[in-house]
Amino acid sequence: MTKGPELVARFGSPLYVYDAAEIRARCRELRGFLPGRAAEIFYAAKANANRAILELLLAEGLGIDGVSEGEVKAALRAGFPAARVSFNGNNVSDAELRAVHEAGVHVIVDSLGQLERFGLLFPGTSVGVRINPDVGDGHHDHVVTGGPQAKFGIEHVRFEDILATANRHRLKIDVLQQHIGSGLLDPAPMLEAAEVLLRIAPAFVDAGVLDFGGGFGVPYRRSEEPLDLALLGRELGQRLDRFEAGRYVVATSGTLYCTVTAVKRTRTTTFVGTDSGMHHLLRPALYGSWHEIENLSHPGGPIERVSVVGQICESGDVFAKDRPLAKPREGDVLAVRNAGAYGFSMASTYNLRPRPAEVLLEGGEARLVRRRETIDDLLGRD
Ligand code: LLP
Repeated sequence: MTKGPELVARFGSPLYVYDAAEIRARCRELRGFLPGRAAEIFYAAKANANRAILELLLAEGLGIDGVSEGEVKAALRAGFPAARVSFNGNNVSDAELRAVHEAGVHVIVDSLGQLERFGLLFPGTSVGVRINPDVGDGHHDHVVTGGPQAKFGIEHVRFEDILATANRHRLKIDVLQQHIGSGLLDPAPMLEAAEVLLRIAPAFVDAGVLDFGGGFGVPYRRSEEPLDLALLGRELGQRLDRFEAGRYVVATSGTLYCTVTAVKRTRTTTFVGTDSGMHHLLRPALYGSWHEIENLSHPGGPIERVSVVGQICESGDVFAKDRPLAKPREGDVLAVRNAGAYGFSMASTYNLRPRPAEVLLEGGEARLVRRRETIDDLLGRD
């Protein structure tokens, strides 16, 4: 019972389904890409923080990169020891810094002001800093997190200010980290950024961990070439200690199944309305991202060019525009592929619509790993 329409019949629609074997295969690939040396892989929980997935990644030997108190707590609750969790929040409050530090989780600060505050709160301790290497890249402007336009990190040219602030509070800078963007398929900017980090690293005598950050992309379109992990491994494997990967670990494992609720043919367009939308998978609306879509109920049907849309009251609520799809009919089950990363984790309850259930496929079994939200969950108690 692991076929899309059967899963939808059993667990309801729309439905997120993840394949544990695929996640494990990606973990093994990541562990193996660094020749001759075991750099650590930390999973960026923002990509998908479902507890069952976190538990699986714990068993695979990954650590966790969390960006909020919530993600840190999700990791601890899933069984990660605090020493295997790193906190890399942006513009965080004192209360959040305290909560994370008191949980025993290592903190990476993102600005000189925050380094100063960390020193005032916890003098004489160890802390990491995020460097902005003045290089950025990403599948969309919104996810370029390095370079002059990005709000993240401390400019690498300010490294003496970092050291002076740390000295004032007897802080040891034990981790130097960067993260230049997400959905990267070109190794060149990644190598360029790593060189900047490596160039300033000798000034940080206590920095035992050089953390490259994440950003490893996956091909969403058949025409895209996969990232050359072997090349990155050769160039960086011996020189960096930690990599953070979100998308790469979970993107390909996930499918969002939804059901066609209306087919509307206008003079210009065939709109395929579904029982899902931008509230469940925001990436197409927010970034114009491409996700492969299949009609599982009518796979051999004649091909029609359609727009696949959702239930939200906005015209931007589009999964795909002008896309070839086997002729859709009401009740057909569609599969939206590569939805395991930044799918459920970015889902919202906009229009007061509940979020889908999540299912994990493992060893031929389908296990409900988050129940479907209900309207009562959203409305709370009177
Ligand atoms: N480390 C840090 C500090 C990050 O901010 C991120 C992602 C990662 C690691 C993991 O990046 P990844 O390996 O997943 O590329 N919502 C967007 C992606 C935003 C990523 C933001 N930071 C999307 O759906 O494409």
